[in-house]
Amino acid sequence: MSEPMIPKTMGQQFGRRSWAEPWKIKIVEPIHMTSSAERQRAIAEAGYNTFLLRSEDVTIDLLTDSGTGAMSDRQLAGLMLGDEAYAGSRNFYHLEEAVRTYYGYKYMVPTHQGRGAEHLISQIVIKPGDFIPGNMYFTTTRLHQELAGGTFVDVIIDEAHDPISEHPFKGNVDLDKLQALIDKVGAEKIPYVSLAGTVNMAGGQPVSMANVKALRRLCDRYGIRLYLDATRMAENAYFIQEREEGYADKPVAEIFKEFCDTTDGAWMSAKKDSMVSIGGWLAVNDEEIFDKARNMVVVYEGLHTYGGMAGRDMEALAIGIEESLHDDHLRARIGQVRYLGELLSDWGIPIVRPVGGHAVFLDARRIYPHIPQDQFPAQTLTAELYLDSGLRAMERGIVSAGRDPKTGEHRHPKLELVRLAIPRRVYTQAHMDVTAESVKAVYDMREQMRGLKMVYEPAYLRFFQARFARL
Ligand code: F0G
Repeated sequence: MSEPMIPKTMGQQFGRRSWAEPWKIKIVEPIHMTSSAERQRAIAEAGYNTFLLRSEDVTIDLLTDSGTGAMSDRQLAGLMLGDEAYAGSRNFYHLEEAVRTYYGYKYMVPTHQGRGAEHLISQIVIKPGDFIPGNMYFTTTRLHQELAGGTFVDVIIDEAHDPISEHPFKGNVDLDKLQALIDKVGAEKIPYVSLAGTVNMAGGQPVSMANVKALRRLCDRYGIRLYLDATRMAENAYFIQEREEGYADKPVAEIFKEFCDTTDGAWMSAKKDSMVSIGGWLAVNDEEIFDKARNMVVVYEGLHTYGGMAGRDMEALAIGIEESLHDDHLRARIGQVRYLGELLSDWGIPIVRPVGGHAVFLDARRIYPHIPQDQFPAQTLTAELYLDSGLRAMERGIVSAGRDPKTGEHRHPKLELVRLAIPRRVYTQAHMDVTAESVKAVYDMREQMRGLKMVYEPAYLRFFQARFARL
């Protein structure tokens, strides 16, 4: 295995033409540097859970790409145009127009973030005893489906659970699995199919246009609704442009709209694609469902013209929606994620292939084959990365999967991963180099590593607040 310690830099290869971000930096935020002794103390105090670290103790923060993106000068200017009227803020109408123009749905209800919208749609359309098929679970999405009395059923293609498969659309739904569920439980027990663009837990893997269209036809045959988790749908549309026949010459915004038009509605965590600190929405084409959502939002989120967001947040979001669909923005965004992933792959470090849209996922199962899943290999790896360099990552394995609500046992997901999520427009290529070198240093120490035991476990979404101790 040849292991160049210094990554290839721009211009090193004669004749190479590099890409660059379509923006320049106007404001900077200093990063606090930590010593090894400080990090030892901080991670022990945090119970070996990176969610419990103080952000001041982190150098490069790849915990999440959620709410951590850099706003543009246009978005910041938008903050100054906030109309903070309790009802009927003009910023709400801008947001509504942006959702209609770019996503194409008729009716929109704002929420404070994605899970607020998940709560609304789950409570409105799921009845106790229902089944909700989807292309792999997401933590908050599944929990809201369960809290409404539903059971989530994974119908993603098998390749999605295989970190080394190079399938270009690992987010696709396996229509045979969906058909089998319909045959087994009956279409009347399936209120909707829960389809996510670039599947987070599978490694940021996209769904093809051909797949969503075939899925639509199957849903129509049985009168089942098709709802989209649009959180990272812009990135999904970019992958279609890059990989699917017939889309190379279409602008991402057009592909995006075509995809959304194939679905009946969507929920959105605007903190990702749309590059705002907070916000979300639910949008549907069905007026009856909209009426229920608009009524329910006042109970849990806020009036239907702000839903938990300030007027200024809605303005920045309306602008962010438009910016999120620029082709050159997405090329640079996904290009940066790919740069980090390819560097790690070149060094022989096991990651989920192909590199996805928002993050590079380290395969903790293959990095620590000697640590059993019940001793939390991915959680262990997040702690080691932090100790090495102050790099913050997130566990996406057995801790995130939680317990089966019926049996109370740990769910054992096939994928035991650590996610390095890249915030949009925030870090430079040098930060990616430093990150890759830290992963390499931790990887080189892999054989000595032992696992963790869980010493505190909260009832819901345990990964956020669980505490661990070294074995
Ligand atoms: N759906 C997906 C695919 C998500 O990734 C998230 C959040 C949500 C829904 C919920 O949205 O956080 O605004 O309430 N994902 C974050 C992450 C937390 O780090 O991946 P939210």
